[in-house]
Amino acid sequence: MDNHIILKVSRGMAAFMTCITLAACAAGTVTTPERTLKTVYGDKFLIGTAMNARQVAGEDSAAVEVVKRHFSAVVPENCMKCENIHPEEGRYDFRDADALVDFAEAGGLTVTGHCLIWHSQLAPWFTVDDKGQPVSAEVLKERMKEHITTLVSRYKGRVKGWDVVNEAIMDDGSYRKSPFYEILGEEYIPLAFQYAHEADPDAELYYNDYSMSIPAKRDAVVKLVQSLKEQGLRVDAVGMQAHIGMDYPGIDDFEQSMLAFAATGVNVMITEWDMSALPTVSRTADVSDTVAFREAMNPYPDALPDSVSEAWNARMRSFFELFLKHADFVTRVTAWGVTDGDSWKNDFPVPGRTDYPLLFDRDYQPKPFVQALCNETE
Ligand code: XIL
Repeated sequence: MDNHIILKVSRGMAAFMTCITLAACAAGTVTTPERTLKTVYGDKFLIGTAMNARQVAGEDSAAVEVVKRHFSAVVPENCMKCENIHPEEGRYDFRDADALVDFAEAGGLTVTGHCLIWHSQLAPWFTVDDKGQPVSAEVLKERMKEHITTLVSRYKGRVKGWDVVNEAIMDDGSYRKSPFYEILGEEYIPLAFQYAHEADPDAELYYNDYSMSIPAKRDAVVKLVQSLKEQGLRVDAVGMQAHIGMDYPGIDDFEQSMLAFAATGVNVMITEWDMSALPTVSRTADVSDTVAFREAMNPYPDALPDSVSEAWNARMRSFFELFLKHADFVTRVTAWGVTDGDSWKNDFPVPGRTDYPLLFDRDYQPKPFVQALCNETE
């Protein structure tokens, strides 16, 4: 090809590229990067979501698309819990957890491990002997150490931080009388942190719990974190689950707890954010028969009325603004699921309801407050 032809070809290419660029600009696709939670707020804190095994396996590609576009962090909703990952003594099933970590790594998403020591979804064998009697303190320590070491070292360098102990404090501030507590006393908590740190000294370690706005619980968690720190243990953040409702908690109480936890010198993470749009469960006299009760408890089986949706969006927005206000110590905000259709709240605390607690609706569309947050410039 002589120079003349090369010039002609490259001029042709340039004209062609200009056309493409102009067309793309006209369609608004080149100059403006898409405004998503991650692109707009990702410099404030990690924006996370829980993922279920079906999503990770690619069986819900629309949910995967939402995760990739809007979120910078993920947490497994169930597959790292003891009953799933360590169902029998000496037998682990890492398949779903490995898939989640691989998925996150491929997409540049930060992973939180959830959770190492929890009384719920605990494998039935974990705290008892072959006759079903509680094991000795020594045996339980050995089992905890083996479980924690196996998980934390398997994902060393790939999981950024772990919910080491989940839900150890009751709403009145007392210790939950879990099998761990019954056998080891409060000592099981520092031990869990110690084992996790030994397995991966670089991993962040968190204490995670719900109903954190209740003053008695707030105080107990503050004391617990202080005591862990006094013992020289690593603890990076308090995780506030934030499974909230339309009428609880008060946003000021929530903020008081955020500030109290931060004052101990750790970060705060909003770890399981969702807000039920349904009535809080309480059986009152005027709905005494079961059918009336069921209907009263599941009032929006088809769609959320506009007035409720507006109130829900306004309250969710206020919470997000609170998280932004404290972005100096809030390091992650994680929704407990991708879309309303996936949420555990459809079955908790009452099974079979239709709830609307998450940031994306059943059609994978952002809720109005999410859309508004994404469209705003600071
Ligand atoms: C829930 C899951 O979302 C459900 O799928 C499962 O059936 C029960 O557990 N606190 C926690 C989470 O720390 O692990 C729980 O997740 C919700 C409450």
